[in-house]
Amino acid sequence: MTTPVLELRGIDKSFGPVQVLHEVNFSAYAGEVTALVGDNGAGKSTLVKCVGGIHPIDSGEYIFEGKQVQVNGPRDAAELGIEIVYQDLALCDNLDIVQNMFLGRERRRGVLLDEATMEEMAQETLAGLSVKTVKSIRQPVSSLSGGQRQTVAIAKAVLWNSKLVILDEPTAALGVAQTAQVLELVRRLADKGLAVVLISHNLNDVFAVSDRIATLYLGRMAAQVKASEVTHAQVVELITSGRSGDLGLSPDSYNGLSDSGEAATR
Ligand SMILES: Nc1ncnc2c1ncn2[C@@H]1O[C@H](COP(=O)(O)OP(=O)(O)O)[C@@H](O)[C@H]1O
Ligand SMILES: [Mg+2]
Repeated sequence: MTTPVLELRGIDKSFGPVQVLHEVNFSAYAGEVTALVGDNGAGKSTLVKCVGGIHPIDSGEYIFEGKQVQVNGPRDAAELGIEIVYQDLALCDNLDIVQNMFLGRERRRGVLLDEATMEEMAQETLAGLSVKTVKSIRQPVSSLSGGQRQTVAIAKAVLWNSKLVILDEPTAALGVAQTAQVLELVRRLADKGLAVVLISHNLNDVFAVSDRIATLYLGRMAAQVKASEVTHAQVVELITSGRSGDLGLSPDSYNGLSDSGEAATR
């Protein structure tokens, strides 16, 4: 068995009295796209924010490249090589592409910013991902289309040699052609050897690019399976009821009869 890049074991997370994540297990592997799916409110974004250090976890183990780590903030996550494109806070509209890609990690030459080097690196990274639709890397991000914005956010992950890239609903606001482009990019990232986590509502997208599918149901991991081993219909069932045939949660684990919260893959 290969060691996952990221492994979460038994993650609990509450906001005040409301427990949002219950004993969640999750793994992401190098060279693979792992889809994280689940209904609205299932806890996908919360799980990702725990990985990114935005929310502290209440309990559970956070294991990165086989070692248990403490991630107390976004800086810790970045240092491990984790890049997250958040659903609700991605890029700075008023800055251009280069500024966004180097935000907080600007290159300097003495006291001045090394604009030439940053431009060159940004350009090379976009070219290396075969991104051809961006006219100028000096255009403000506010002038980009939704697909181009996702592209810039993804390119940023590549530029910083990330090991794990998490994309929270990257295609939610995109049209058909843009979605196809972003999905291609997602696949290319994994083919470069990164571990990629894709959160999406669209199961066609999920099946198009994913190696594994993890399904959250009411804050519990119903199942994490190989994409080739489940059907579209089974994943729909897992999303809507937390179980499908032999897969998923036992009803006892979430209907109040038991507090164990066991996410069983029986
Ligand atoms: N900062 C927060 N404070 C309180 N509750 C939150 C917070 N963030 C998320 N929640 C709650 O956690 C649950 C899961 O939300 P979220 O992780 O955004 O789900 P998803 O991304 O799967 O749609 C929801 O019930 C949401 O209202
Ligand atoms: Mg979300």
